[in-house]
Amino acid sequence: MFLIVDFGSQSTHLISRRIRELGIKNTIITPDEFEKINLNEVKGIILSGGPSSVYEPGAPTIDGKLFKTSVPILGICYGLQIIAYKLDGKVTPGKKKEYGPANITIQGDSPLFAHIPQTCNVWMSHGDEVSKIPAGFAAIAKSDTIPHAAIANEGKKWYGIQFHPELVHTQFGDVLLSNFIKICGIEPVKQELTKHTVTDMIEDIKESVGTGKAICALSGGVDSSVAALLVHKAIGKHLTAIYIDSGLMRQNETEQLREVFKNHYHMNVKILNAKQQFLKALKGVTDPEKKRKAIGKTFITIFEKEAKKTGATFLVQGTIYPDVIESAGTKHASKIKSHHNVGGLPDRMKLSLIEPLRMFYKDEVRKVASLLEMPTEIVNRRPFPGPGLAIRIIGEVSEKKLAILRKSDAIVKDEIKKAGLELKLWQAFAIFTGIKTTGVRGDARAYGETIAIRAIEAADAMSAHWANIPYDVLNAISVRIVTEVPEVTRVVYDISNKPPATMEWE
Ligand code: XMP
Repeated sequence: MFLIVDFGSQSTHLISRRIRELGIKNTIITPDEFEKINLNEVKGIILSGGPSSVYEPGAPTIDGKLFKTSVPILGICYGLQIIAYKLDGKVTPGKKKEYGPANITIQGDSPLFAHIPQTCNVWMSHGDEVSKIPAGFAAIAKSDTIPHAAIANEGKKWYGIQFHPELVHTQFGDVLLSNFIKICGIEPVKQELTKHTVTDMIEDIKESVGTGKAICALSGGVDSSVAALLVHKAIGKHLTAIYIDSGLMRQNETEQLREVFKNHYHMNVKILNAKQQFLKALKGVTDPEKKRKAIGKTFITIFEKEAKKTGATFLVQGTIYPDVIESAGTKHASKIKSHHNVGGLPDRMKLSLIEPLRMFYKDEVRKVASLLEMPTEIVNRRPFPGPGLAIRIIGEVSEKKLAILRKSDAIVKDEIKKAGLELKLWQAFAIFTGIKTTGVRGDARAYGETIAIRAIEAADAMSAHWANIPYDVLNAISVRIVTEVPEVTRVVYDISNKPPATMEWE
């Protein structure tokens, strides 16, 4: 048994996934569940990160029996701090809070850092730090800002690291986790998603739905497309795919969707025009969470109505794991955003939910798409949030703002594609900032809108780096927007990483 104790980090499941990819089945448990575990059967334990401070009243803690065994332990971020705190070290608010990239220098030759260069780039996300390490431990890495970036009690095989090896932006993170697995006495074996996995998923859906009917929320994005195709393969005509044109979609999206799913896959797709309904629901709403809720509610109302017409008892959604975790799906996680496709289901709804991709990350979904031999256009489709352009308009949504944003966004997409950058980026899009600034157009004063551009590099939705787009591409985007969208006088580029900034502005 290999355990991951979840203290509420956004990336606990990513740790689980990384360990799974090394061929080791593992279980995520809460600190409460840990109390009941028989540690004789446990080969290794990872303590996750979390949003709390160990010294705060009510912060999640770990049963002291953990330190009475010979099981190897790796504490990550909060996990490190809990080790230090429980063993009489000291954890204090850091002089400098760190969010994003940091350099570490490895000291000594701990097996945890085997095959890792002495200096490397890691991803940090913490406010507290270990200011005094517990007896029996030594510092095995420092960063530019903290002396105890990693600590070890080699005799006991207890380790703590302040950075996140599970995030792709941490160099050699996979090597570090693989080293820890070896320290636990297990030989890691890299695992891959296969056609077999996909066949199993289809069989699972067939079994769950039986002779029942399903409706499927189709948005055109890779997640809902893959979910729809999986269900289509499982139950064929018993699936009705519903596409709701909320009016919050990007340029030409509805037309493209009709082409792919109706004409290419001959799927049973219903395209509904609900633009006015959504605009009405969003009238006067400025709070991002309220927008999500209003959109979610409108979606669900329409689905319920359609479901009744088709006699469906199942609702299939393309929810993926980051949607679940970022909607605080686990006990100690703090709420970042309530993604509409997780948060909005009312209890009265009679539909059972089928979410075949609920445990997958985006890159895994793309792998499933290519194993299903879907067109590359879909396999590589960049993610687009369920609430659509509404969460890229700061402030109240209106038809006019949507039109300005849609035109600007299409230009960003076009120029990024022309420059051959599309596939290198997680997303590239425009934001309607709602900030009016002074400009000059044709020798006259122009008080116009500000459009922001966001282009992001990421391998999953948990961490991201703003993309180093060549100046001439940024310039082409800027010039085209102010020329082709007359309401806009200013274009700015967002240079924020995640964390602390999320990808979407709302
Ligand atoms: P954030 O902004 O949370 O975005 O860093 C991470 C990824 O999730 C997408 N996103 C959403 N997707 N409903 C969705 O279906 C939402 O409410 C939502 N908010 C963000 C975002 O586009 C990015 O790919």
